[in-house]
Amino acid sequence: MEKQRIFTLSQVAQHKSKEDCWFIINGRVLDVTKFLEEHPGGEEVLLDSAGKDATKDFNDIGHSQASKNLLVKYQVGFLQGYGVQQSDDDSKVGVDSYKESKPKEMKSFRDQGRYGA
Ligand code: HEM
Repeated sequence: MEKQRIFTLSQVAQHKSKEDCWFIINGRVLDVTKFLEEHPGGEEVLLDSAGKDATKDFNDIGHSQASKNLLVKYQVGFLQGYGVQQSDDDSKVGVDSYKESKPKEMKSFRDQGRYGA
């Protein structure tokens, strides 16, 4: 199934144009190309995060629960190394879902100072 594909950071980084815009939120890889024009916050901010991990930007805005539920709609897979369970409840996707990741696999991200200790 499409949502279970695994991508690396460098694969996601190749999709950073207006015609092909992906980013990562909480370990989920999202293809937001079709959402650019619909985004209430504008397409510019999404393009700024294109090809990158937008978890912090997304959380910092204080997006509503409705917008968090929308994430799943644009999901094309997971970021390699994330331990999000396939069986997790998509309706509960939110800012805290990265906590489900396995600590060991998060090490490389911590080393980059992305998610704190
Ligand atoms: C697929 C990912 C995203 C979805 C589904 C999404 C959805 C939404 C929605 C529905 C709103 C309206 C307010 C709300 O319901 O919270 C909104 C507002 C906004 N979003 Fe996003 N968003 C996404 C990613 C991002 C990212 C990565 C940024 C980067 C900074 C961003 C920045 C903003 C801003 C600045 C606003 C306007 C807030 C305001 O006017 O108060 N969004 N977004």
